[in-house]
Amino acid sequence: MEKKMLFTPGPVMTSRRLKSVLAHPDMPHRQPAFEQIVRRIRANLLTLFRADAGYVAVVVSGSGTAANETALSSIVRPGEGVLLVKNGEFGNRLEDILACYGYERRTIDLPWGTMPDPAAVAAALAANPRLAWVCMVYHETSTGMINPVRAVGEVVRSHGRKLFIDCVSAVGGQDIDVLRDHIDVCSGVPNKALAGTTGCSFVVARRASVPALGPDLPRRNVYLNLQKHIEWAEKTNQTPNTPAVTMFIALDAALEELMEEGLDARIRRYQECAAILRAGVRALGLRVLLPDAQASNTVTSVFLPAGVMLKDFITELDRRAYVVYAGKGPFYDQNMFQIANMGWIRPADCRAFLKVLTRTLADMQKHG
Ligand SMILES: Cc1ncc(COP(=O)(O)O)c(C=O)c1O
Repeated sequence: MEKKMLFTPGPVMTSRRLKSVLAHPDMPHRQPAFEQIVRRIRANLLTLFRADAGYVAVVVSGSGTAANETALSSIVRPGEGVLLVKNGEFGNRLEDILACYGYERRTIDLPWGTMPDPAAVAAALAANPRLAWVCMVYHETSTGMINPVRAVGEVVRSHGRKLFIDCVSAVGGQDIDVLRDHIDVCSGVPNKALAGTTGCSFVVARRASVPALGPDLPRRNVYLNLQKHIEWAEKTNQTPNTPAVTMFIALDAALEELMEEGLDARIRRYQECAAILRAGVRALGLRVLLPDAQASNTVTSVFLPAGVMLKDFITELDRRAYVVYAGKGPFYDQNMFQIANMGWIRPADCRAFLKVLTRTLADMQKHG
């Protein structure tokens, strides 16, 4: 299999050490050795989100959507409404889940790449006391924008409501603090800024914010129920059903690598990579979607020069063993692509990428 350099927002490149743990000895899950792994993962996740003992972490077998659905299907009581703040594709995906479970909802629906205004959240909550939860994406991967989680969290807290944040593309790449940011429940995956593999995901929740199951709150599903995951995790560090054992082992290893590097150092590495990439594309005269102050540490959205077609560009870069993704939604037609610096990626990789990008664009413009 040809090795490709992934400048993608997941799946991402992983270390040799991480790949080596995938060939672990066969392991059944109903055994102390596996429970030890789950215990360590859950403790490291709480550290990563800077959570205190009032929070609980669970691992879900399935991608980030599974974690989001586990949380959102389980935390809203009958009769409660949800306020969704969305400004991109992954806000849309949250909306899909909320719609599937039939919740009453209000949406602050912003054009992609527009910064949400916490005052609008305050107004919506003041106008409708039934809106018990506010939902938003931390890092809207489709644009690379960091949403104002802390400011929205303060509004949510001051109105006595609860906050769910999709941290799928933020965790490991941004400074998340569930206490400071007033996050009640959030989700994440290994296969983005944690530099892990696909196949499992996780939810971190303030215990007191997760309603108990009972006659007032019947289970809405079987596999993706948060209360059941918490019950099994807290009792025995187990999962309700057969977990993706290998992916849990890989998550454990990815967290160990992150703890060794240190979260602050990991974030600084990503910031350095992003700064190199942004300076490099700007030096080529390319327009970047977001001002640096609004952009994440790990995704840069860039418009191609006139005359270079997005699809051809992606194919040509791929031929040269570099993978980037095309922009989604309205940005696809605007010839936007995304460069991600998540995972096992170093400043030298970013400089090498810029050289290939420069040559690719020059060749395409010459032959265009
Ligand atoms: C912010 C965000 N939320 C949710 C998802 C969906 O995750 P998955 O594709 O792993 O289900 C993604 C995927 O890129 C994402 O970036």
